[in-house]
Amino acid sequence: MDTSISLVDNLIELNSPVIIASGTFGYDGYGRGYESYSPLSKIGAVIPKTFTYFAREGNQEPRWYPTSFRQGTEDGETIFLNSVGLTNPGIHKGVEYLNDLRPNMPTKLFASISGDSIEQFAEMASEIAKTECDGLELNLSCPNTDTGSMFSHDAELVRSVISAVTKEYKNPVIVKLSPNVPNIVTIAESAVAAGANALTVCNTMPAMKIDIKTHKPVLGNVLGGLSGISLKPIAIALIHQIKSCMNVPIIGVGGVFSAEDIMEYLLVGASAIQIGSANLISPQAPMKLQDDLVNFMKENNFESLRDIKTFNVSD
Ligand SMILES: Cc1cc2nc3c(=O)[nH]c(=O)nc-3n(C[C@H](O)[C@H](O)[C@H](O)COP(=O)(O)O)c2cc1C
Repeated sequence: MDTSISLVDNLIELNSPVIIASGTFGYDGYGRGYESYSPLSKIGAVIPKTFTYFAREGNQEPRWYPTSFRQGTEDGETIFLNSVGLTNPGIHKGVEYLNDLRPNMPTKLFASISGDSIEQFAEMASEIAKTECDGLELNLSCPNTDTGSMFSHDAELVRSVISAVTKEYKNPVIVKLSPNVPNIVTIAESAVAAGANALTVCNTMPAMKIDIKTHKPVLGNVLGGLSGISLKPIAIALIHQIKSCMNVPIIGVGGVFSAEDIMEYLLVGASAIQIGSANLISPQAPMKLQDDLVNFMKENNFESLRDIKTFNVSD
């Protein structure tokens, strides 16, 4: 079975469409929970947690909450709320971490960065350019302190930040979008016009839960981001909308827990997928999903993932 895919033609070839989503690489986002990284050679890529310009302590605890809207079912804890607040050591320590990780990482390694301003994004991109990372994912689900607007909500900010980053960083740039925008196509078009090589769709959805015993929100930060199975139909719809208008490589993310979930993303037009919440249940989840995908392909007579034909409304 051939699970290799071309994410960006002639630029990013992956041996598997399975990628570890930023913030969920092990229990701390930076690989805690793995005895050895060698099994990661099975999967396509790893994206450690986002680095910001300055170090961040993160939000008040509790920072994540498994919210089982379907308690007692097999789906159990497959919906999460989190508000970690981008706890990270800042870009300079981040570069040291990536340099230490690179020789031990038996698969592709993409860095993730997020800034408060276009200048911060550009400076961080030039720092990442000094590492041996295979690409850079821009986490745009953060506010621009100059305007107060989230980068990912404003097509003009998306254009400016990508133009600034691509001046400093010459390897592939992947742009991670937020789901809660009125028109995802406008944002995607702006990203591609400014030089994005691929899009990641999508980050978590703003959400909140109140504990009816304590009468308080379950997260210290009150609001958080929803991930897990509830996010999948949202991401699938966004990818369909983008792919109906333009031919850009997309990494689907949201609620991947099975080979069937991976297939659904590939059928809507994603070239690869990321696994987030499933890693919070087990750091071995990505390798298991890769094995499950190979078995699914055998059972359903798919020789190669390159044979999959994207769903098209007009067919
Ligand atoms: C605990 C936690 C921390 C996260 N941290 C980041 C982060 O640092 N950067 C980022 O771009 N996304 C972050 N995310 C979002 C994930 O990368 C992913 O987009 C999201 O969880 C949806 O995928 P899933 O449904 O498979 O979890 C985080 C998600 C979780 C659950």
